[in-house]
Amino acid sequence: MTENNTISIEKIVKNFGNKRQRLMDIVREVQNLYGHISNESAHRIADALGIPFVEVIDMVSFYSFLTRTPRGSSVVRLSTCVVDKMHGMDKVAEAFEKEVGVPFGSTSSDGEITLEYTPCIGMCDQVPAILVNHRVMTNVTPADVPGIVKALRKGESLGTQDEDTTRPDAQIDMNLRNPGPVIFAPMDHGAALREALNMTPEEVIDTMTKSRLRGRGGAGFPTGMKWNFCRKAKGTDHYVICNADEGEPGTFKDRVILTETPDLVFEGMTIAGYALGAHEGLFYLRAEYQYLYSYLQQVLARRRHLGLLGRNIGGKEGFDFDIRIQLGAGAYICGEESSLIESLEGKRGAPRDRPPFPVTKGYMDQPSSVNNVETYCCAARILEKGADWFAKLGTKDSTGTKLFSVSGDCAKPGVYELEFGISISDLLRKVGAEDAQAVQVGGPSGNCIAPKDFGRRLCFEDLSTGGSVIVFGPQRDMLEVVREFTEFFIEESCGWCVPCRVGTTLLLKKLDKVLEGRGTKYELAELEDLGNTVKTTSRCGLGQTAANPILTTLKNFRHLYDAKIKDEDYIPIFRWDTALADGKAIAGREPVWEGEEL
Ligand SMILES: Cc1cc2nc3c(=O)[nH]c(=O)nc-3n(C[C@H](O)[C@H](O)[C@H](O)COP(=O)(O)O)c2cc1C
Ligand code: SF4
Repeated sequence: MTENNTISIEKIVKNFGNKRQRLMDIVREVQNLYGHISNESAHRIADALGIPFVEVIDMVSFYSFLTRTPRGSSVVRLSTCVVDKMHGMDKVAEAFEKEVGVPFGSTSSDGEITLEYTPCIGMCDQVPAILVNHRVMTNVTPADVPGIVKALRKGESLGTQDEDTTRPDAQIDMNLRNPGPVIFAPMDHGAALREALNMTPEEVIDTMTKSRLRGRGGAGFPTGMKWNFCRKAKGTDHYVICNADEGEPGTFKDRVILTETPDLVFEGMTIAGYALGAHEGLFYLRAEYQYLYSYLQQVLARRRHLGLLGRNIGGKEGFDFDIRIQLGAGAYICGEESSLIESLEGKRGAPRDRPPFPVTKGYMDQPSSVNNVETYCCAARILEKGADWFAKLGTKDSTGTKLFSVSGDCAKPGVYELEFGISISDLLRKVGAEDAQAVQVGGPSGNCIAPKDFGRRLCFEDLSTGGSVIVFGPQRDMLEVVREFTEFFIEESCGWCVPCRVGTTLLLKKLDKVLEGRGTKYELAELEDLGNTVKTTSRCGLGQTAANPILTTLKNFRHLYDAKIKDEDYIPIFRWDTALADGKAIAGREPVWEGEEL
């Protein structure tokens, strides 16, 4: 590293105010400059921030978009979501490997191109999809691959969206199939905020409570209650946090909101700022959506110009509020709110113990309200149109509309804004998938529903979802899908607690035994037992739902498992050679049995 590089790193750290909590931005910028975070860079960053070197390495090694070793000038990340696989991802992978000349997980010998797999990138309605550095390409076919690789080698444009601010969606279809009255109705910028500023902060929160709005991130926590807890919590600052991590496979509705109506989200966050007495909003954007970053910055700049962000907003003396966008770096667990806060503080995204909850001790240990993108949109519309208007939509316990991102085996994949309470069969008719064999509601962590239950309704009282609805046609092997989902959780577990870290791997081993035709009823009972243990003893929502693919299919698709197992209760065979294989490989010798000479 040269003298200049050293100066650059220190300058980067200084540009972020020498603040420890900006480590994510610092590291991202250093990587942009040098391609990776070498030990030397990590030392420099640590010295400049006055923190231990291991804290930098700990953080860098956690995120898949950060790297300690050099990668190619172009990094091609192929989305491995189950929906990509259903639509030819494997063939695209083969084509890349042939064209680049190396397998996925490595870099071409000329150092130009790195091939990597990555979990769902939020483009399930137009798969297979890839990220080339931070640009998105969708509907990729094997025939496209030679042209892409050639262009990358020549350093030519791919003809995809620039990080051009005016058209972030140039090559990405919106597939907005059913715009509804809450999220996608035309917006009068500032109207909802004006309504809010005519009220006291307490009245704004009462309006949320009256609307019976529940969070759209999946768990459905009442927003009015969350804001009330947060407002009342004591702290030197309060924070409004928007969760735009959108990592659940099959979910892409926030992507469409952020492209079509980002002002509504920012307006909702500003209203929350007023209600909670906050001065700063933090918008956590997943790294996969980096192509939206400049566009969103431009929207924020426009709002500042219009006086909708900044000081004394709307002429309200003392109401100062602004929003900062924080880019993530590739980790599904960072969608969990306490991990997201850790990540915002520039740390690895490991979930926190709760209580205390973020509403009392969140970002920088201050009261913070974390809400989903769609929740903030609903909040703004409620202020504009009234709590009663909103509460008349949907069902008793699930008021309003919901965005469903529908993908898989259907004629019209895309985003549908529909009132809560719609049945699965009605939704399947709308999306052109009447022959579905199964519907995965809520992504891998949700529920796999069989046709006998297609009369069930999408709402918090029955089947809830953060947005993901994946349809599987009659041709799909559902147990293979279960396997994919279980692998996804193994990959994404943060590794902190044993039930999740070890339990998910054990689940996969047992599942494989069944899939290979070596299982009996005993293995099915064990799968259920172990699945419930992982569910009840894991530390956070990831582990608590990681067994759902197995548990819900054991319940709703039992016949598929029964067809795989042997008609015996238990096969009491223990294979020494298999059980000891790993140990022998590590020790590099054969086992010595009792009584044997060493
Ligand atoms: C593993 C995991 C991933 C999550 N991912 C997201 C996400 O991408 N977006 C989101 O809004 N909520 C996600 N959540 C839920 C959040 O923890 C949190 O409940 C939500 O952001 C609160 O917002 P809401 O009240 O508006 O629903 C996730 C939870 C878990 C356990
Ligand atoms: S449940 Fe999984 S993701 Fe959550 S803390 Fe434990 S290991 Fe980490």
